[in-house]
Amino acid sequence: MRVAVIGSGYVGLVAAACLAELGHEVVCVDNDLAKISALNSGQTLIHEDYLQELLDRHRGNKLLFSSSLINAVRESLVIVIAVGTPAAATGEADLSYVESVTREIARSADGYKIIVEKSTVPVYTNAWICRSMVLNGCRQESFDVVSNPEFLREGTAVSDFLYPDRIVVGANTKRAAAAMRELYAPLVDGSYSQREGAVPRPDGVKVPPLYLETSAQSAELIKHASNAFLAMKISFINAVANIAEAVGADIEDICRGMGSDSRIGLRFLRAGIGYGGSCFPKDVAAFQSVAREYGYQFKLLDEVRRINEDQLQRFLKKVRSALWTLKNKRLAVLGLAFKSGTDDVRESPAIQVIEGLLREGCQICAFDPAAVARARGILGESVEYAPDPYSAIKGADALLILTEWKEFAALDLKRVRELLNYPIVLDGRNLYSVEEMAKAGLNYYSVGRTPLEISHPIVVEQRVAKS
Ligand code: UGA
Repeated sequence: MRVAVIGSGYVGLVAAACLAELGHEVVCVDNDLAKISALNSGQTLIHEDYLQELLDRHRGNKLLFSSSLINAVRESLVIVIAVGTPAAATGEADLSYVESVTREIARSADGYKIIVEKSTVPVYTNAWICRSMVLNGCRQESFDVVSNPEFLREGTAVSDFLYPDRIVVGANTKRAAAAMRELYAPLVDGSYSQREGAVPRPDGVKVPPLYLETSAQSAELIKHASNAFLAMKISFINAVANIAEAVGADIEDICRGMGSDSRIGLRFLRAGIGYGGSCFPKDVAAFQSVAREYGYQFKLLDEVRRINEDQLQRFLKKVRSALWTLKNKRLAVLGLAFKSGTDDVRESPAIQVIEGLLREGCQICAFDPAAVARARGILGESVEYAPDPYSAIKGADALLILTEWKEFAALDLKRVRELLNYPIVLDGRNLYSVEEMAKAGLNYYSVGRTPLEISHPIVVEQRVAKS
């Protein structure tokens, strides 16, 4: 099929590369000329597993990059809208990019088109797109609009696209529904996973996935409700972590105990410094705003957001109480990205913790395997950036772990202890067991677990040794 993908951000670029991988002729359009020329010259722009391979495999044949929306629309049957829907000041989604793209599609279309709405949008956006197409001169029967939300996670976006749990399609006509089945055929019949050279199938994924056809409104609500539910799961476990800490229980044991109930499940039950990223914070607020607009006060989500904000403050408090005073303390920070596997720092809890610590007069030396360049865009030179974890740790008064990168869970603890001024580790992602840290002689403060108090003798011993 001939497909145009409008937008080359996380969703657009991954969708374009994956649709080409499924065998379609894809053109990915963006009005940012610098981005298009970077993509044409072989750059990947974002850090995603397998993306580079897919771009290298299809660029110039099945996958083209262009700044001409008119040509892309004219040459394609399916037009995927994957532009940003940032949060407006009120929390609701700002749909101005979706609207202007719709207008351009309407003015460029010269035959029947299927417009696929993939951006995360509030309910009834599908209906608004239809209206806008007609207002901009398209006959009702010359297009269909399909809601086809994306559930991919940054870092594993390519695997998520090619091995989804479900594909949700909200199409209002048989013609559009049939075209969507054709678009996803290699995933729906399971043939993609059998292909030579296919992106490997992740463990535990069911092939073929559930293919769910619904109304447009249901498809739109499925996306917002899924993200809000996952955010709620994280806030729930963070609230339980706070109780666990107060009563001397262990949140990791609690998660194992709760998560082994198949109705609850272990995933998204990791306690920490809260959720971030470009999706959860924005989508929880946008879902509340949609609910409000249609007469329902979704107060549960107020609490989800409040717990998330509180979690960060609680961690800062922990740093304060582990270090006594913060002014002029030198802190090593491991992790800048909002989660592991990505270079994205939007709404990153790690950046928010760093900003809080800088306000209190700390000096920070940070390391992240992928996100330094993007973090520099926010933090500038207010922090030092180390080339590896151990250079960041050397001479620091404490180590803070803020992102759950795998390599941060495998540090040489003996070396960490030798390099730190004081043996203090604050882990906002619970990457180590309390016992293992105590054995390494490190005072370890994590989330939802009682620290094993070994602090005073060691701190004194270190200080004496240094003086
Ligand atoms: C999220 C959803 O998981 C995707 O299904 C969805 O498609 C995407 O938003 C979107 O709407 O585009 P993403 O933002 O990439 O994906 O990241 P997640 O893996 O969901 O993590 C979000 C945040 O929650 C991160 O800060 C992560 O560290 C935190 N988290 C996650 C926890 O604190 N605990 C957990 O157990 C899981």
